[in-house]
Amino acid sequence: MPSSDIAPRDRLIVALDLPGVEAAEAMVARLADSVTFYKIGYQLAFAGGLRLVETLAASGKKVFIDLKLHDIGNTVARGVESLARLGATFLTVHAYPQTMKAAVEARAGSSLKILAVTVLTSYDDDDLNEAGYRLGVIDLVEARARQAQALGVDGLVCSPEEAANLRKIIDRRMKLITPGIRPADAATGDQKRVMTPARAIAAGADYLVVGRPILGADDPRAAAEAIVAEIAPALAG
Ligand code: C5P
Repeated sequence: MPSSDIAPRDRLIVALDLPGVEAAEAMVARLADSVTFYKIGYQLAFAGGLRLVETLAASGKKVFIDLKLHDIGNTVARGVESLARLGATFLTVHAYPQTMKAAVEARAGSSLKILAVTVLTSYDDDDLNEAGYRLGVIDLVEARARQAQALGVDGLVCSPEEAANLRKIIDRRMKLITPGIRPADAATGDQKRVMTPARAIAAGADYLVVGRPILGADDPRAAAEAIVAEIAPALAG
């Protein structure tokens, strides 16, 4: 079971995958108090969206910066220090030991939590082999999850299918954040392996990242409320 100290609403992270700050601000205004946590990724961050981190944090929202950092340790550390000053809650890095170690050390003293991406879900065993890796997806995810925990990383981004297995490997303090969430009646888009909010929570996910089912809904606020309503009973059950 996921940890119970987080309210159902605070477990929904809406991916602000939008082309610019204006569109993102309009969506945040529409979602109003139905959403407390937002994710800013490449598209919005590289269109000036990093300044939204500070305004969202100042208005009481939490922000997940999804930039999947990976570089030499010193560069990662200096980048993490800058991002920590913006007031973000989560930041992703790739799960390479040097990168994770540098990021964890650099976030000390701030409220920023580091999340590691073990293996990108677009990679299968053949892709890893082509990239020169010895291990397949399952073994590499497991090895990196263990390394992340040993290095003090705060959580992992994983597919909902991986969540139950990872829960057996890592301890409760590490958070599991899962994208690939689709309400039962939603279109899957380009996500191949999807799960409903309730099933992902039951599998051990602490936070759910949802983009298009909310951003593309006729009534985004109602779509967000429906997902929160699915999370609550799954936590109890
Ligand atoms: O629109 P959708 O709900 O598919 O958005 C999912 C979000 O989660 C996107 O911002 C995407 O980049 C991110 N993500 C993902 N699959 C992963 C990791 C991250 O879809 N394996």
